[in-house]
Amino acid sequence: MKKISHYYFSLGLWLSSLLSCLATTAPNITTDQSALLSLKAKITWDPHEILASNWSATSSVCDWRGVTCGSRHRRVTALNISNLGLTGTIPPQLGNLSFLMSLDMRRNNFYGELPHELIRLSRLRVLSLGINRLSGNIPPWVGSLQDLRYFSLRNNSFTGYIPPSVSNMSKLETLNLKFNSLQGAIPMEIGKLKKLKQIVLDFNQLSGFLPPGLFNISSLEAIALRSNSLSGSLPSSICPRLQGLTWLDLGFNKLSGVIPPSLSECSKLQVLRLFENNFSGVIPEGFGNLTALVELRLARNNLIGVIPEGFGNLTALVELGLGHNDLDGTVLTVFD
Ligand SMILES: *[C@@H]1O[C@H](CO)[C@@H](O)[C@H](O)[C@H]1NC(C)=O
Ligand SMILES: *[C@@H]1O[C@H](CO)[C@@H](O)[C@H](O)[C@H]1NC(C)=O
Ligand SMILES: *[C@@H]1O[C@H](CO)[C@@H](O)[C@H](O)[C@H]1NC(C)=O
Ligand SMILES: *[C@@H]1O[C@H](CO)[C@@H](O)[C@H](O)[C@H]1NC(C)=O
Ligand SMILES: *[C@@H]1O[C@H](CO)[C@@H](O)[C@H](O)[C@H]1NC(C)=O
Ligand SMILES: *[C@@H]1O[C@H](CO)[C@@H](O)[C@H](O)[C@H]1NC(C)=O
Ligand SMILES: *[C@@H]1O[C@H](CO)[C@@H](O)[C@H](O)[C@H]1NC(C)=O
Ligand SMILES: *[C@@H]1O[C@H](CO)[C@@H](O)[C@H](O)[C@H]1NC(C)=O
Ligand SMILES: *[C@@H]1O[C@H](CO)[C@@H](O)[C@H](O)[C@H]1NC(C)=O
Ligand SMILES: *[C@@H]1O[C@H](CO)[C@@H](O)[C@H](O)[C@H]1NC(C)=O
Repeated sequence: MKKISHYYFSLGLWLSSLLSCLATTAPNITTDQSALLSLKAKITWDPHEILASNWSATSSVCDWRGVTCGSRHRRVTALNISNLGLTGTIPPQLGNLSFLMSLDMRRNNFYGELPHELIRLSRLRVLSLGINRLSGNIPPWVGSLQDLRYFSLRNNSFTGYIPPSVSNMSKLETLNLKFNSLQGAIPMEIGKLKKLKQIVLDFNQLSGFLPPGLFNISSLEAIALRSNSLSGSLPSSICPRLQGLTWLDLGFNKLSGVIPPSLSECSKLQVLRLFENNFSGVIPEGFGNLTALVELRLARNNLIGVIPEGFGNLTALVELGLGHNDLDGTVLTVFD
């Protein structure tokens, strides 16, 4: 009997120490609060005094401006402090917001690098950090954010290469890295992103060939690679697979070869910009079938031959640029 009660006593002791251990280590809304207070402490300029007045420890974090909590766990699931004119850095503690699904800090003046601790935000679906002053490399760990759908670092000062690990974000729909100083080639592995709808990498210093796998992603709606130093030619068959393509902007690069006639099978194309490259050969006859076109810019290439008659059928066209080629024929309006 004595032995048994001793047994129960030790079990009880063990259980209570386990529980207290859990209580001190398990993250809860207090963890989220201290993560957000760490962020607030890193803000050096808050012109509208929004965080200063609103993010007060006297009210629940879930009532703070820009903070959304989940109904089930009462943990922070979304943080939206976009467009508040904030200046500051991103503290590592932000990685403690373990239930976060959406982080929108776009249109502020955040600077510095992305802390490695953000790798712990494994539930993230939206990571929107565009239009800030963030710098450093795009860290390879972003590839482990397996639930990410929307990833934008546009208009920052990121340098270095696009890490091939981005191709591990298998649910990614939007990749927007435009207006940075990225260099090197677009990773070949990008073709693994089978849900990708928009790839926007314009205004960087990317070079090398277009990854062939890119033109195999049938979900693509927009490919925007303008103003880089991409070279090589376009694959001969693009459109059989890219039936949803509405936007193809490859302007201001070093692309060469012919314009593939199969491009005229991309019947949803509204914007087609191939200007300022070194494309040669003729304008495919079938372009007259691209009746959804609003903008067609082919200026400043080495195109020859006759402007297809079918251009007269492109009634939605608002801008047409064919200048600085060696073309014959007439169209009603020629913009450069
Ligand atoms: C959260 O956990 C801490 C210990 O880490 C505890 O002191 C606090 O009471 C908990 N808060 C809530 C709201 O459960
Ligand atoms: C903070 O802002 C939210 C939403 O704008 C508002 O509902 C809340 O009352 C504010 N809290 C304080 C303490 O000002
Ligand atoms: C964040 O808030 C802005 C302004 O209300 C809104 O336009 C934007 O869509 C929000 N971001 C997300 C990811 O919901
Ligand atoms: C939060 O993050 C910081 C830095 O990453 C860490 O030191 C701290 O222990 C974390 N946990 C809590 C509960 O704040
Ligand atoms: C992005 O950066 C470019 C070049 O600096 C600038 O022209 C453009 O206005 C910026 N876009 C936004 C939305 O700030
Ligand atoms: C992508 O994920 C796989 C396993 O999920 C891993 O083995 C591989 O190293 C990752 N690739 C990159 C480039 O991070
Ligand atoms: C693209 O798809 C075609 C047809 O399915 C296939 O033959 C080709 O190997 C694929 N290319 C790449 C780079 O994945
Ligand atoms: C453009 O292509 C032509 C051949 O079509 C080639 O002779 C010329 O060197 C190329 N120019 C540039 C700037 O790459
Ligand atoms: C334009 O489309 C029609 C109908 O799909 C097709 O018969 C015709 O061959 C196309 N014209 C050109 C020049 O590709
Ligand atoms: C315009 O389209 C119609 C109907 O598809 C076709 O019959 C006609 O030949 C086209 N016009 C030109 C100039 O290609």
